[in-house]
Amino acid sequence: MGKVAVMGYGVVGSGVVEILHDNKDTITKTLNEEIDVKYILDIRDFSNDPYADLVTNDFNKILNDDEIDVVAEAMGGLNPAYNFTKQLLLSGKSVVTSNKELVATHGAELLKIAQEKNVNYMFEASVGGGIPIIRPLMNCIAGNVVTEIDGIVNGTTNYILSQMFKNGKSFDDALKDAQEKGYAEKDPTADVEGYDACRKIAILASLSSGQTVDYNQIKTIGISKITSDDVKYAEKINSVIKLIATFKIENNKLYSSVQPAIVGNDCPIAVIDDVYNGIMVKGNMVQDLMFYGRGAGKLPTASAVVADIIDCFKLSGTNNGCIFEPLEADFMRPYEENKEAFMVILSGNVAEIKTKTENLFVNPEYISIKDNEIAVITNELTVSELESKLSDLPVVKKIKILR
Ligand code: HSE
Repeated sequence: MGKVAVMGYGVVGSGVVEILHDNKDTITKTLNEEIDVKYILDIRDFSNDPYADLVTNDFNKILNDDEIDVVAEAMGGLNPAYNFTKQLLLSGKSVVTSNKELVATHGAELLKIAQEKNVNYMFEASVGGGIPIIRPLMNCIAGNVVTEIDGIVNGTTNYILSQMFKNGKSFDDALKDAQEKGYAEKDPTADVEGYDACRKIAILASLSSGQTVDYNQIKTIGISKITSDDVKYAEKINSVIKLIATFKIENNKLYSSVQPAIVGNDCPIAVIDDVYNGIMVKGNMVQDLMFYGRGAGKLPTASAVVADIIDCFKLSGTNNGCIFEPLEADFMRPYEENKEAFMVILSGNVAEIKTKTENLFVNPEYISIKDNEIAVITNELTVSELESKLSDLPVVKKIKILR
């Protein structure tokens, strides 16, 4: 019988315990072995919980128990999750996690320790909640060079943007609604400013390139400055706005960003609404793939954690070979050197703006929704080229166009 410990008895941790209990028969059939939860680590009081007798606040009980082979870390945050995970791996236990912050920050080191100790560090739940994305990248399309990923990987911002488009809400009202429904935190900064999506794309970029992509180097723009006017401009060209996390390999250079993007209604990702996530992946052999599902929430996220637990037992005594090598010098292309098309909103005399911009871009298109303001759709050009062309113009805002 396999024994596991669950660290963190919050939304995801309690989901893991629930799935291991409710789907016990299925899991036992899959594994040919029963999995039992032996400890739940949490400092809070759960004396009325059905699993109260498993709850402990003593990490050393788990660390020093030879019966525990696999530990699910659902604590979130860097501390003490990092320290606990490191000690567990060093002691020869496998760890699975939903903690995107920890994987994005210390994944390379933790994966190396897991390899040295012949155990596993798995993180399927860290990106896209219940959507299988880590394993497909690692296994199913392992024979491909992954050339591009464009994904909606944050449910909260997708809900807010969906409300702005479908129900005409302002950003502030949509955020309030998301908070009331429990999607957005009281302090929504990590979601609305794109930091959460940034950590997730850093994980996918590291996995796809095999090199450690530092999330601090990923240009990140959130959705807090998206207005109802931006929504109207996008609608005029049959598009929506989504917070898109991008990874690209082009001419042997890696590029990654998180930013709001105008997405044509004919793009499969445009129809992904509310708290759902959707991730488009291009492999150089398989071509286009799309992954869709619940990117957050108790049971979807716990479902991915449990799959990792099962895999750790299946792989017992072997390491899965997942490693993030150090990033090669100059492999990452700066944001300014990346080519994108943009919608640029300019204010002032529309006739003058048109005269000034007509020859700046190749076949620019213009969109108008009100007096004394106009939006120009540019051709693809580098961000630094765009900046220099716009230097003397009254720019209100620039939004990338997903092509
Ligand atoms: N805050 C995250 C989201 C939770 O909204 O997607 C799942 O990682």
